[in-house]
Amino acid sequence: MEKRFLGRSGLQVSTLAFGLMTFGGTGRFESVGTTEVDDARRQIDIAIDAGVTLLDTADIYSMGRSEEILGEVLGEKRNEVLVATKVFAAMGRGDHDRGLSRHHIIAACEDSLRRLKTDWIDLYQVHNFDGLVPIEETLRALDDLVRAGKVRYIGCSNHFGWELTRAQAISERLGLERYISQQIQYSLMVRDAETEMLPAGVAQDVGALIWSPLAQGYLTGKFRSDNHSPTRLDASGRLKDYDDERGRAILTLLDEIAAGHPGATPGQVAINWLLGRPGVSSVIIGARTETQLQDNLGAANWRISPDEIAALDAASAKPLGYPAVQRLFFQQDRNPPIFTHVTPKE
Ligand SMILES: NC(=O)c1ccc[n+]([C@@H]2O[C@H](COP(=O)([O-])OP(=O)(O)OC[C@H]3O[C@@H](n4cnc5c(N)ncnc54)[C@H](OP(=O)(O)O)[C@@H]3O)[C@@H](O)[C@H]2O)c1
Repeated sequence: MEKRFLGRSGLQVSTLAFGLMTFGGTGRFESVGTTEVDDARRQIDIAIDAGVTLLDTADIYSMGRSEEILGEVLGEKRNEVLVATKVFAAMGRGDHDRGLSRHHIIAACEDSLRRLKTDWIDLYQVHNFDGLVPIEETLRALDDLVRAGKVRYIGCSNHFGWELTRAQAISERLGLERYISQQIQYSLMVRDAETEMLPAGVAQDVGALIWSPLAQGYLTGKFRSDNHSPTRLDASGRLKDYDDERGRAILTLLDEIAAGHPGATPGQVAINWLLGRPGVSSVIIGARTETQLQDNLGAANWRISPDEIAALDAASAKPLGYPAVQRLFFQQDRNPPIFTHVTPKE
């Protein structure tokens, strides 16, 4: 499998990463997945055999159970993979059991290391932005973890472009570790990241790790059948947000493109489209079952053509908002858009 450097760093990651949000199944994560140790072991072996080197989890996934399962499974394979996890969400009821204070980051990192049964985390990501804590405090705490050898690289997730940019500027001013990656939601269904988050990442050489690449399974096309088994997208109630004229046009196109590539599936086409976007380092695939995992891993072995990409761009485009539309109409010669396919609002 192809590997890419993650942002401005020496860390190389496989273009498909395996997301472990389906491991466990506690509380609100029950509808996401209930993969336990034996199945997890098989799935991780399948992913590694296919060339995946990056495994992504978070402390909050099933309240620590996803990390625990990974810790039980990893064993001798620890050196073959990169472990990415996250901090931010509430892991208890105390004042310092959540957010990005020095207190919580250091305690949460120790807890993650214990659950993961490892001495180091390869990529430690802040799961969200914390507007209540001085960003210098967060960045210093993360830097201390790197100096202590507990964390090797740091990244962020779900940040606005200005939040990422400000964090990078402060890291540079203070000589601290900088974020090498941002984990963002991005798919043919959800393209909001293109106007602001992705360009901010490209400008600062921060690699994008993509979450929900299949829009929680919608882009596999299975929701068009009346007899699909209950899924997470049913449980979340978001199916109605996706399944409109635009959504169905995208599914039709995915079917047509898949039909032109022997053995390809619509979901693989959707993942493939993401692998060609500017600034994308790796797409984090999620899978409730082994069959789903095998299917998604199949996206790594072939590429869609420029014409197919252009057709998907057009079918999934949404009207631009301000100030992107202003840029496109009036200042394009001074600010060439990174994403040239977007259609301006009439
Ligand atoms: N940073 C963040 O805030 C954040 C947020 C969310 C996720 N993530 C990360 O991103 C990873 C992937 O996100 P995601 O799970 O939302 O990705 P996704 O690819 O959009 O959705 C995965 C779900 O779609 C269905 N599916 C996947 N492949 C399929 C296939 N081949 N055929 C039929 N159904 C299929 C399965 O659910 P059903 O069987 O229920 O349909 C599966 O659990 C997570 O594991 C996590 O590591 C990060």
